[in-house]
Amino acid sequence: MKAILRTLIPVAAIVAALFSIPSTTVVAQDAEPGPLASIGEDLWRQASRCWDCHGNMGNGMNEDPRSPKGADFRRTMLTWEQIAEVIKCGRPGTPMPYFFRNAYEGANPCYGVTIADLGAAAPPAGAPQYNQRQIDALAQFIHYEYVGRGPATQEECREFFGDSASSCNRWPTRAEVEAAADAEGEDEAAGAEHGG
Ligand code: HEC
Repeated sequence: MKAILRTLIPVAAIVAALFSIPSTTVVAQDAEPGPLASIGEDLWRQASRCWDCHGNMGNGMNEDPRSPKGADFRRTMLTWEQIAEVIKCGRPGTPMPYFFRNAYEGANPCYGVTIADLGAAAPPAGAPQYNQRQIDALAQFIHYEYVGRGPATQEECREFFGDSASSCNRWPTRAEVEAAADAEGEDEAAGAEHGG
């Protein structure tokens, strides 16, 4: 029982800390990519298996059907620094792996707990493992490329993967996304005062 409590208390504290961001916070898109973003893009495209779970449009639609659905970066409220922390440390109690070699050990603390403290809630080790600069690069790329960008579109997909990428056909066109947003806006405006 004591062992279970030792595991549950830190996890509860972490979860409370993660969800303490006010829900009204609006996350703006980055106007400019961070200085390491292009290095991060290369890692994202070539080496990482983030897509398996997060989808190659960063929208949480797992590309690998055997993998769990990842978080939707387009809707995240996290700053790039917070994204870097999740990549480094993973997310205890979820399938999100940690990608920093020796995370949770000695000079590389994570959430104030050790892997042993977390017990069964310890996140899996990701592969490949990255150094801090690579993690910062991935985080800056993800923040610039996906956060606040709205739903994935065919056009955005083709800009990223090239005109011939047939896998882009599964996304709506930009016009379809805009039409859907307009319809939603009209619904909301119906009960509201007319702003002129
Ligand atoms: C095995 C599947 C899997 C892989 C591989 C994976 N993730 Fe995740 N990731 C998840 C899941 C599931 C979550 C949601 C965890 C939760 O419920 O809070 C997540 C959450 C995140 C978050 C937090 C987002 C938020 O808004 O809370 C970030 C950032 C992230 N992942 C980045 C990455 C990056 C970068 C990679 C590759 C280096 C990666 N992930 C690889 C499954 C995965």
